[in-house]
Amino acid sequence: MAQGIGFGKVILFNEHFVVYGIPAIASAISAKTTAVVESSEEGVALIDDRQETPRYKKEKFEQQKDSLNRILNAMNIDPNTPIKIILAGDLVTASGIGASAASCVAIARALSSYFNLNLSDERINEIAYEGEKGYHGTPSGIDNTAATFGCLVWFKRGEPNVIERLILKKPVEIVMGNTELVTDTSSAVAGVRERKQRYPDKYDKLFKKAENLSYKAKNAIESADLELIGNLMNENHRLLQNIEVSCKELDLLVDLAIKEGALGAKLTGGGLGGNMVALTPGKELQERVAQAIEKEGFSALRTSIG
Ligand code: MEV
Repeated sequence: MAQGIGFGKVILFNEHFVVYGIPAIASAISAKTTAVVESSEEGVALIDDRQETPRYKKEKFEQQKDSLNRILNAMNIDPNTPIKIILAGDLVTASGIGASAASCVAIARALSSYFNLNLSDERINEIAYEGEKGYHGTPSGIDNTAATFGCLVWFKRGEPNVIERLILKKPVEIVMGNTELVTDTSSAVAGVRERKQRYPDKYDKLFKKAENLSYKAKNAIESADLELIGNLMNENHRLLQNIEVSCKELDLLVDLAIKEGALGAKLTGGGLGGNMVALTPGKELQERVAQAIEKEGFSALRTSIG
């Protein structure tokens, strides 16, 4: 038997823009997916015991199969090998929390351990990126990077990607509000691509703003200026609204979090549903925001970044 883990993640700045080489910032969260590999009688089987947002597993079933085949292929493992892979852990599957990336990383690590491959984190990250293609089509690579390295990262897609670890002086509480709408990241990404082609001037301006914001956000994190980080998150949410990846549930959660005192809030991940993130330093503020979200009938994850 062998085991591997992959962390959930939260994108703090510039999801979607990151696909086009604009820098983005993401943090791993402590909730993680575990994968266990055991010998079995038949070819590779996947048993998914993760807790889920309703409908998540059903909606991702075909993509998960495709993803697993890509991982096996990247690792040169014959799909007829008699093993079973069991997914579990405390990361509740949802859109916007890096559930697919966490599972790809956990599977790659567990397989590496089972077959004594001793793969480096860099190689695990590359394999998980191949697995992510089963879910996203053309992932930027930010999700699997946070899921593999388990820290706060600055990520710029390119040849090669630029990945830098960012340090926050001390971890800061956040709340993730789950709209419980399961979404398809590849359609959200395709929608942005289509509108970007249709309205090049408008989108060029928005992308320039997102790029400027990424450098300000990096400085704000490095100087632990939480007020500024929060303001920049709000600004980022407006840019994401402008490229049409928000929705009324996400806007409601963002407004609610701000009303309750969050320093900033925005959608996180692919959008059109999925999760919102609010910056809520201190247990008291975190609890107030989380409870307000739960009172509206949504679920809230109390976690931290950095
Ligand atoms: C999804 O978590 C983040 C997106 O930017 C897509 C990607 O980076 O691959 C929407």
